Amino acid sequence: MDTKNLYPIDLGFKPNYLYEILATTISKIKKIPNTSAMGIRLTQDNFITIKPFPKTKTLQNLKETKIITINLVDDIHLYALSALKNEDLGIIFPREYYEYEELSYLFNSDSSPSKISIPFIKQSWAVLICVVSKENSVIKKDLLGDVSLIEFYLKPLKIKFFRNSAKLFNRAENLALESIIIATRIKIARERQNEVLFNELKSQLTSNINNIKRFGKNYQALETVDLINRYLGAPY
Ligand SMILES: Cc1cc2nc3c(=O)[nH]c(=O)nc-3n(C[C@H](O)[C@H](O)[C@H](O)COP(=O)(O)O)c2cc1C
Repeated sequence: MDTKNLYPIDLGFKPNYLYEILATTISKIKKIPNTSAMGIRLTQDNFITIKPFPKTKTLQNLKETKIITINLVDDIHLYALSALKNEDLGIIFPREYYEYEELSYLFNSDSSPSKISIPFIKQSWAVLICVVSKENSVIKKDLLGDVSLIEFYLKPLKIKFFRNSAKLFNRAENLALESIIIATRIKIARERQNEVLFNELKSQLTSNINNIKRFGKNYQALETVDLINRYLGAPY
């Protein structure tokens, strides 16, 4: 596909739908790449919105550099690594998964364009390299309470398309994706000693894991179950 004038809709995005992607950012000083699973939406006028939670590395990097890569990846195991990564537990998102794209960008009309080296995930079927165009403060209602967030409006600077993704609907992988989110919430419920929520989430997770195992040999989904167990320190 000619990647010169691609728009998000050419990759299958529909306005206002929520999509789960892998967001790669880079730290300003040490240039360390970081990837997190995040939800995004396309607006009617071709911006992409993203809401990183306070304390995430993604938020910190995005505030510092204003640059982010949206990676479209069809391997659920990479979602698990990116959302559950924890050096102490040996869950890491390996550096060798990255490749770099050199871009020249005019951040400020008073200066000359800056040359920047932007990381993206090699395994992606397409990537959207974006710059922050606008920021809004929003309140998100969540079962863990109200959180005040920054919603970033991103403008795609460059879209790279590598291959078609012929992903079929897959129950084990959908359940695995949902289970990763539940695992991150269980950890918070445990830290906050919210026993009612903890028990509710734990029973959802147990049911999901039983179903993933029942659906049969899906390597990526089963690897995700292993990572969740490691992340939560099974038996939890
Ligand atoms: C499918 C999925 C979607 C997620 N969406 C978001 C999101 O929109 N915003 C957010 O802050 N965290 C989201 N998370 C949780 C982050 O991936 C997780 O907190 C991660 O550890 C943050 O990493 P970071 O500190 O390196 O940015 C999501 C996780 C999953 C599995």
